[in-house]
Amino acid sequence: MNGLFISFEGIDGAGKSTHIEGLAQAFKAQGRVVTLTREPGGTPLAEQLRGVILNAPMDAMTEALLVFAARRDHVQQVIAPALQRGDVVLCDRFTDATFAYQGGGRGFDWAVLSVLEKWVQGQDQGGGPMGESVLLQPHLTVWFDLPSPVAAQRLCGARVPDKFESQPLAFFEKVAHGYGQRMDADPGRFARIDANQPQASVWADVSKAVQAKGWLPIC
Ligand code: TYD
Repeated sequence: MNGLFISFEGIDGAGKSTHIEGLAQAFKAQGRVVTLTREPGGTPLAEQLRGVILNAPMDAMTEALLVFAARRDHVQQVIAPALQRGDVVLCDRFTDATFAYQGGGRGFDWAVLSVLEKWVQGQDQGGGPMGESVLLQPHLTVWFDLPSPVAAQRLCGARVPDKFESQPLAFFEKVAHGYGQRMDADPGRFARIDANQPQASVWADVSKAVQAKGWLPIC
């Protein structure tokens, strides 16, 4: 695979969207083909599952299984083919969100999530889903880190909240802790961005993180 895979994470209200769009423009200006996608979602089936996951009440295991089912379809139909073509894949959330929300926020078993991650993101090396496989992971994960009360303030009154957005502050504290644990386990993959700054400063930090990898020119 010759493409680039970048994911974007953070608690609800952290303000990922404009920066994802900005990076898409920056890569296109370099002549790269960009696949802009999101999770849960990114395929017709996964978008249907998104509607259910974000709105229907369910227990944490059901939620985890559904987000991984959506991810499996997304990886197979969109992400892996785009990377094979050499595209830059910009994905609004990926598996770190499952560890943060279902693992951290909901308290679901981290070890089970790790097994599901291996099954769903295992790129078959001839051994089948249970055999030898390479784990598909983003080359870079940009984590927009923002104190939960600030995020809550930003979300407040912005729109009708979905199931996650209407969770109390304590839930988002646990989600943020989950992101921290994921970063600690694989620090080289993460760029932690202080999202509690003016938008222009956040953008400067996001650009620097991508430039530091040598993927965009320093301007
Ligand atoms: P989000 O990415 O914030 O989209 P929007 O900006 O349109 O609201 O919403 C997705 C929600 O789904 C978010 O609250 C986090 C949640 N989520 C999980 O709980 N687990 C997951 O694995 C993923 C990918 C998302």
